[in-house]
Amino acid sequence: MKETMMKILKSFGLDKELDLYLQLFHKTPATKFAVVKISGNTLEEKLLVVAEDLAFLSKLGLTPIVVHGGGKQIDKQLEKNGLAIKKVSGLRITDKETMKIAYKVMNNITNKLVKAITNEGGHAINANGLELIEVEKKPPVKGIDLGFVGDLTKIKTDKITELCQSGYIPILASIGHKEDVAYNLNADTLASGFVKRLKPKKFILITETGGVLDKNEQIISTIDISTDLPELIKQNVITEGMLLKVKEIETLLEKAPTTVVEVCSAENLLQELFTVKGSGTFIRYGGNFIIRKSFKGLNTTKIKKLLEESFGKELVPGYFYKAVDSVITDKDYSGIMIVKKINGVPYLDKFAITKSAQGNGLGKAMWTFVKNHYPTLIWRSSITNPINNWYFKNCDGIQKSNGWIIFWYNVSRTKATALIPIISKIPKTLVKK
Ligand SMILES: CC(C)(COP(=O)(O)OP(=O)(O)OC[C@H]1O[C@@H](n2cnc3c(N)ncnc32)[C@H](O)[C@@H]1OP(=O)(O)O)[C@@H](O)C(=O)NCCC(=O)NCCS
Repeated sequence: MKETMMKILKSFGLDKELDLYLQLFHKTPATKFAVVKISGNTLEEKLLVVAEDLAFLSKLGLTPIVVHGGGKQIDKQLEKNGLAIKKVSGLRITDKETMKIAYKVMNNITNKLVKAITNEGGHAINANGLELIEVEKKPPVKGIDLGFVGDLTKIKTDKITELCQSGYIPILASIGHKEDVAYNLNADTLASGFVKRLKPKKFILITETGGVLDKNEQIISTIDISTDLPELIKQNVITEGMLLKVKEIETLLEKAPTTVVEVCSAENLLQELFTVKGSGTFIRYGGNFIIRKSFKGLNTTKIKKLLEESFGKELVPGYFYKAVDSVITDKDYSGIMIVKKINGVPYLDKFAITKSAQGNGLGKAMWTFVKNHYPTLIWRSSITNPINNWYFKNCDGIQKSNGWIIFWYNVSRTKATALIPIISKIPKTLVKK
């Protein structure tokens, strides 16, 4: 089966990175792979495209959690039934009759999607009937009772985990329950609720625009919330509705900083998942890095856990008592760089990103940071480390020595030659468990 998949991906030009991503995704627990939110409009137009992609993921053993809306379809059905869309002071009211129709319409969309995925050979399940989403009735807005509209209070994530672990892609309409009564829920809010609780690797928003658009309607390819967003706002690049959406994403990522958000079209879902740079918009919380001159004031328990988890090895005792030139981390210890000095030359002693955040661009962001801070750098990597190809692209000198590859940038050949025997003999500080 993998062969067929590879052929398909090859046709997309995706085969190169597939293995890397599959490895990363398969190391991730089933519910931490991705939350996918699909707008009702997209499902109306592109149900089969989406179903094919989800079936494809299912065949690869991946189980994203899918949340969909259906506003447009509900409006159509209301119109068909001769029911007007009720509004008071511009606010939409969901009365009992409307809610009944909304539930039916949304559940039908879920069923259609499940059926289409199944037809394509994937495993998906309609999770609406399981009442996994609990809500409270929304309090009146500006004194107006909105009817059957809910605020999310709880998601039964254990049940969702069970479904994912059994190999099913759970599909959920944006409907919640309170004591057997169904309430309408904003699909973005529900999807964000999943992201906050599960902190998946990816939060994919499938939209008709295919990305976040700038004021000239062009897709912005990357937004680093902490570094790019203030500038994009200042220069009026993102405005109005798009800005509102990005602001919502910013608030969400403050709670789930290791998740990356990808806004894409139905056609580009696979590309978005299996390449570093897709064709939609890639949004990450970004590099709020802290640089310290020692481990003082840093949480060494967290650093130890991060290093041991990402390398799958054990840190030798006393590591934190040795002098360093700097320690670079982000505020929740998703990534770390430890720089020492050898004969006055900065030596990158450790570089690691927590497993759940690997492959999401955090390493690259830290690399840019270290490059700005250190005009020269030398480091070593085991000859079998899969990251070496990337190091080759980011260095201007290499040499093999004693089972290591020594890389450097802006270090003179003479200096490097003197350092190589020293660096290749530094005792290992991460050892087999
Ligand atoms: C190496 C490491 C720090 C990279 O961080 P990351 O956040 O996963 O990397 P990014 O997502 O920013 O990707 C950066 C580049 O590395 C590539 N990459 C990431 N993980 C990779 C892997 N396992 N195999 C091959 N390439 C990989 C990406 O494709 C990307 O390449 P590009 O610039 O050509 O697009 C991280 O994977 C890690 O902690 N690994 C375990 C510890 C380790 O080996 N540290 C290095 C010791 S020398």
